[in-house]
Amino acid sequence: MSLLEVDSLTVHYLTAKGKVHALEEVSFDLKKGEALGLVGESGCGKTTVAMAIMKLLAPNARVLSGKILLRGEDLLRKGEEEMRKVRWKEVSMVFQSAMNALNPVHRVGDQIVEAILAHDGSFSEEEAQKRVSELFALVGLDPNRMRDYPHQYSGGMRQRAIIAMALACEPSLVIADEPTTALDVVVQDQILGEMKRLQMDLHLSLLYISHDISIIARACDRMGVMYAGQLVELGPTQKVLEAPLHPYTRGLLNSYPSLRGPKKRLRPIPGEPPNLWEPPEGCRFHPRCPRASEICRSSCPPVVSLENGHFARCHRPRS
Ligand SMILES: Nc1ncnc2c1ncn2[C@@H]1O[C@H](COP(=O)(O)OP(=O)(O)OP(=O)(O)O)[C@@H](O)[C@H]1O
Ligand SMILES: [Mg+2]
Repeated sequence: MSLLEVDSLTVHYLTAKGKVHALEEVSFDLKKGEALGLVGESGCGKTTVAMAIMKLLAPNARVLSGKILLRGEDLLRKGEEEMRKVRWKEVSMVFQSAMNALNPVHRVGDQIVEAILAHDGSFSEEEAQKRVSELFALVGLDPNRMRDYPHQYSGGMRQRAIIAMALACEPSLVIADEPTTALDVVVQDQILGEMKRLQMDLHLSLLYISHDISIIARACDRMGVMYAGQLVELGPTQKVLEAPLHPYTRGLLNSYPSLRGPKKRLRPIPGEPPNLWEPPEGCRFHPRCPRASEICRSSCPPVVSLENGHFARCHRPRS
């Protein structure tokens, strides 16, 4: 059984201008010890997926349909009280821009101690201190720096502290929303390496979210590609990179510097992502798709599997 199964998740946001069709029938699963990535342009719905799993969506969000099964139990049916037992202990999250979320007037170690005491009643203060010291070592921070304030840390150290906080209550799944976006490339690499090691050592499941396909390619066993609220492709990372099924994935890969191999001219995808108040009929990508035909304009494509474990939501995959 998968650790997490998101099944046909559809989410709208209600606004004065109308409904934002933020997610439409998004489905994927995540196994124990696996790293899965979600990649896509700004506004395609990545954070909405994460917040739906945490049940921390904005008050104007409406989950129209779907299931979010954690070990077979539907989180969408859980009340706030039950969700408090899930958050941090089962599923924790490194929020987008979390690096700036450390409180500047409290020592970094104390903030993590507080988080542990707030979420796990079984710890005494002394035990929590000891746990934080272990967590520091786990994420590659010197435990002697526990008494420092956030401004005494570099950006990379702050992000490590945030990751330590996410690991504090030994969750099975960590969701990391743009965990390295604010960091320079060298530090990005270090943090990704560290997360990989944690994934292996702790048999942790990771859901990575990034607009940067090179990050997802390096960090993830499998990856999903999102476009305008739909998951348009899902498969093993190597397969998706080497033999993408969906025209959007191909466009995305062409618009990125080659991960390996010879340098080639970058070709951005012409056009703009749609506004999600009135997404296009049929396939949401059809107005930008070089291969679009009549059926793409009129009917939403089903999810098709061309090879084992490699899916695309496309009428003409790999055409
Ligand atoms: N509370 C809200 N009310 C209305 N619209 C929202 C709300 N939150 C998000 N949206 C819209 O929903 C869509 C998906 O947003 P989301 O934040 O999930 O995208 P994202 O892929 O995480 O983007 P980014 O890469 O910029 O973080 C966007 O069009 C966004 O403007
Ligand atoms: Mg986001």
